[in-house]
Amino acid sequence: MDKFVIRGGNPLLGTIKVSGAKNSALPCMAAAILTEDEVILENIPQVRDIETERKLLTSMGAEVELGYGRAQHRTSIQCAVLSDPVAKYEIVKTMRASSLVLGPLVARTGIARVAMPGGCAIGGRPIDLHIKALEQMGAVITQEHGYLEARAPQNGEGRLKGTHIVFDKITVTGTEDILMAATLAEGETLLENCAREPEVTDLAALLIAMGAKIEGAGTSTIRVHGVDSLHGARYRINPDRIEAGTFLIAGAITGGDLMVDCCEPAHLGSLIAKLEQAGVRLDLGTDSIRVRSEGAGGSGSTALKAVDISTEEYPGFPTDMQAQYMALATQSEGTSTVTENIFENRFMHVNELVRMGANISVTGRTATVRGKSPLQSAAVMCSDLRASAALVLAALVADGESILDRVYHIDRGYERLEEKLRGVGAQIRRMGDVFGKK
Ligand code: EPU
Repeated sequence: MDKFVIRGGNPLLGTIKVSGAKNSALPCMAAAILTEDEVILENIPQVRDIETERKLLTSMGAEVELGYGRAQHRTSIQCAVLSDPVAKYEIVKTMRASSLVLGPLVARTGIARVAMPGGCAIGGRPIDLHIKALEQMGAVITQEHGYLEARAPQNGEGRLKGTHIVFDKITVTGTEDILMAATLAEGETLLENCAREPEVTDLAALLIAMGAKIEGAGTSTIRVHGVDSLHGARYRINPDRIEAGTFLIAGAITGGDLMVDCCEPAHLGSLIAKLEQAGVRLDLGTDSIRVRSEGAGGSGSTALKAVDISTEEYPGFPTDMQAQYMALATQSEGTSTVTENIFENRFMHVNELVRMGANISVTGRTATVRGKSPLQSAAVMCSDLRASAALVLAALVADGESILDRVYHIDRGYERLEEKLRGVGAQIRRMGDVFGKK
């Protein structure tokens, strides 16, 4: 298993580029199921979840071609024939987003079999809201042997029916899944209490380019007029706001001067506000943000200041930035509280940060971080994608050489993280098995 070896202490200086958004690319790839034509997606990040989805689509009969050379971030997908509309457990067990193929498959082929996602490190991750909405659209859903089977009306021969759906809870992939299903449904679907994340807007823009009739994406009410068929399209995925946010914190925590390039500042409003309150200097450009700070070395007016955060659905503070912000809070003067409202178990990074010298205690959904604490290098374990990013950030300022185990979690969602960070002065390298075999 690969590991990262990180020696802390270097301020990050220079320009770092943000890749395309993993959580936009995943639903956009699933959207290709909705048409027989070719869908070309640009700015696809080269991360493991994308590779898993490529395998998933290929196993169903799709032709997926990854670009190479200068076009390496382009992917073309053609689902001319979907001979096997099944999302097999062997492929989907590592990726929660597999439920994203449920809606498009049943809308396109009339039948879908999708392995039920299990729990994961950050909580239960149920898909009851996807199921309930599809049932409201006339699908018949059964569960057997760990698989969920959905059939369109008339035993899979008919079309899903447009209807009025109010999500009981805001769900990002749930909104995306049902939005895709609704594009080919008969009549109008009105979706309320939808997720407003930029990734939903990105998906809707692709669907509109494919001929879908959608109004209101990016607001909590989306109206979809179903059409008989969709056609191919070419679409460029937006920048990854969570990768960009991780780099902003990397610049701030190391006391660097970093230009985070190819990002969309408008998608980072809540994080930007918190970083500014913490005393981090940010200069916003049209597609870049310059971040400057004294890091833990600051004192008086240049010290990082404690700020409370509380995760919420977009445009609130993203749960996907909570762990990384906690790493920054360990280097801020004073007491910060970090409250996680979206997932029930998203504090897996806390014990590892404490092992590095942080002063953090957790009560229920709230972690209290008392700063600033000098961090020491340690051997630590990555547990999920964003928790791992927090450990990388902590290691960048720790005294000495840290070893991060199980970096495959990072590879799920960050493209070549170690190369990008090395390019701006971090001392980080990837190792095979640094402890050797017993
Ligand atoms: N929920 C239900 N029932 C459902 C669906 C969700 O109870 O049917 C609950 C969840 O248990 C959770 C809350 O609703 O408590 C929100 O979950 P949501 O469905 O919004 O999460 P998701 O769509 O599974 C996406 C991202 C996550 C990100 C969350 C929240 C993708 C592929 N994943 O997950 O990203 O944390 O939204 O913003 O878009 C990551 O990239 O590291 C990551 C975990």
